[in-house]
Amino acid sequence: MENKQEQWTSKLGFILAAAGSAIGLGAIWKLPYVAGTSGGGAFFLIFILFTIFIGLPLLLAEFTIGRHTQKEAISAYKTLAPGTQWHWIGKLGVGTSFLLLSFYSVVGGWIVIYLFRSLTGGLRGMKAEQFGQLFDSTISNPTLVIFAHFIFMLMTVLVVQGGVQKGIERSSKFMMPALFLLFLLIVFRSVTLDGASEGIRFFLMPDISLLTGETILFALGQAFFSLSLGVSIMVTYSSYLNSQESLPKSATSIVGLTIFISILAGLAIFPAVFAYGIEPAEGPPLIFIVLPAVFSSIPLGEFFFVLFMVLLLFATLTSAFSLLEMVVASITKGDNKKRKKATLVTGFLIFLMGIPSALSYGPMSDLLILGNNFFDSLDYVVSNIMLPLGALLISLFVPYRVKKAVIYEELTKGSNMNKHIFNIWYFLVKYIIPVVIILVFLNVLGIFDLF
Ligand code: PHE
Repeated sequence: MENKQEQWTSKLGFILAAAGSAIGLGAIWKLPYVAGTSGGGAFFLIFILFTIFIGLPLLLAEFTIGRHTQKEAISAYKTLAPGTQWHWIGKLGVGTSFLLLSFYSVVGGWIVIYLFRSLTGGLRGMKAEQFGQLFDSTISNPTLVIFAHFIFMLMTVLVVQGGVQKGIERSSKFMMPALFLLFLLIVFRSVTLDGASEGIRFFLMPDISLLTGETILFALGQAFFSLSLGVSIMVTYSSYLNSQESLPKSATSIVGLTIFISILAGLAIFPAVFAYGIEPAEGPPLIFIVLPAVFSSIPLGEFFFVLFMVLLLFATLTSAFSLLEMVVASITKGDNKKRKKATLVTGFLIFLMGIPSALSYGPMSDLLILGNNFFDSLDYVVSNIMLPLGALLISLFVPYRVKKAVIYEELTKGSNMNKHIFNIWYFLVKYIIPVVIILVFLNVLGIFDLF
């Protein structure tokens, strides 16, 4: 007997939950520091191009698979390509989500710590220069980071146990709009600081000579990371959507929102980085050093910082929900009786997996893999290898395994996408995207010389 899956209650609920999955640490924490270490504006430009010409079409591809089959990812591939090995795309997605959430939750924990600190007045009276030191001493404290990582995973587990509608959808509805508003406030403060213009230039004026094969791969990985692509999460999420809704419209809104928040994040961070003389190539700590400094120069800054941390925590949680949901759905396959236990056990295993990442800036900082600590290495493998690989496989699966007519019907249901646009999309997915992903890989391996 097939189980009837739960569904989103409305189209808005779906868009917000999918946008909630997309918008998170990728746009707000990762993008600024990766841009900071990889050439600023040039990196950002390539990232935007990848997001529009590769991310958006692939998002639509994942949506098509999910909504057409109305099944979580692994079963979805099995349904469309029975008796073949294509379901490994779904399994790869589950494995990737598992690993990704393990270090994602560590950063979620850092946010929990900062939120707690700001609530208890622990940041009061500090000068811009002191935030770097504070951050170092925070993330090198093993008990604190593991405890915070635990709390973050616990919150994620509790919501995902609640299921699709009550848990995930309901909480996404009010958090996203509030986050946008608060971001506008920080951007306003940041760009009006003395010396801000250098930061704006760094972020928005591309210096193409700074691009290397590796930065291009990072930009590709970042585009997938911040749209939650390549892990089939968007397959699973769109399987909870009914067929009256327009997929192209939903995908475009999600990509638009993600680009918008990425720009806001860059404009919030880089002007302040230069105004305060912070190193743009600071790496993962960047926003934890810059944002407290910006807020400390705003009237009522302490209050706004608490509010910002709450919203950042929500944005991070909504992405974490999707990562955990991906793993849980592959176990429960729509059977809600199994949900509670499956969520708890998976959540606990992910917590354990995250411990070495949590200790990477403290007791385990000497353990280097090819010059990077455990946290950075895991992030590298997930973001720059596993996500692009998953995306590549999806871009092969859709045009080569699924009948064109089936895809056309699914994509045009409830939408006014015309044949012309459909053909452009199909061409991109079938010919351009796989070639670009393979070229970027070969380029990094030195087999093909693009730059
Ligand atoms: N998109 C999320 C973010 O930017 C992270 C994520 C990646 C979530 C991949 C799911 C899958 O924070």
